[in-house]
Amino acid sequence: MSYKEQVDLNRIPQHIAIIMDGNGRWAKQRGHERSFGHQAGAETVHTITTVAANLGVKYLTLYTFSTENWNRPMDEVAALMSLLFESIEEEMFMKNNVSFRVIGDISKLPENVQERLNTCVKNTARNTGMCLVLALSYSSRWEITEAVRHIAGLVKKGEMNPEDITADTLAGNLTTRFMPDPDLLIRTGGEIRLSNYLLWQCAYSELYFCDTFWPDFREEELLKAICDYQKRERRFGKTSEQIS
Ligand code: IPE
Ligand code: IPE
Ligand code: MG
Repeated sequence: MSYKEQVDLNRIPQHIAIIMDGNGRWAKQRGHERSFGHQAGAETVHTITTVAANLGVKYLTLYTFSTENWNRPMDEVAALMSLLFESIEEEMFMKNNVSFRVIGDISKLPENVQERLNTCVKNTARNTGMCLVLALSYSSRWEITEAVRHIAGLVKKGEMNPEDITADTLAGNLTTRFMPDPDLLIRTGGEIRLSNYLLWQCAYSELYFCDTFWPDFREEELLKAICDYQKRERRFGKTSEQIS
């Protein structure tokens, strides 16, 4: 039975986060430059966005460029930035009723990219289908540090008491405050690590790792991950008996 037949459409994860890894290795295996892999990866973003939106996923959060990725060779960073500029497809979002958002230190991106992103966020804001979130110049440690700095400022101004700071206060000051935590986190490309992605938010997410390089990640692979997720019991610290 195919994964399409197996998947339970009534239990699709609300929020899927993906670490899209393996573009460089995919390209090298084929004797190409790494940036060729990024181009192929951009097509996968297109495919997976459409598939996820049609499945009824509410939030899809894609790790697109990390804080640490700024340390890559200058030409690779430049290639990624121009690819980003070219790949923001407002038309596709409108067609699929997708609202587009970004998280991360956007001010670090080239100005033309920032403008393009902002326009797309604005023009798709009224779409009522899936919310596609690109994490750009993003890392959890950056995000948590920013949140703590903001909260400390409120305390300093006397607008908040330290005793009143709760986990919700912190969550409410993260860039992800407009969405629920991921139900399912997928990492492609064979590495078993989080690489500074959504560390706070993934406290109780189901983790799924696969060897497939991101450019080869297709609908079947996404459905496979969702089927795997649907077999799991999420206990959130409780016992199995309490859940059933
Ligand atoms: C993921 O693919 C894309 C980005 C990090 C921008 P990589 O570029 O990390 O590909 P590998 O892991 O080197 O194969
Ligand atoms: C994580 O991939 C970042 C993105 C997918 C955007 P990396 O390839 O940068 O992660 P590491 O360096 O292997 O941990
Ligand atoms: Mg990588």
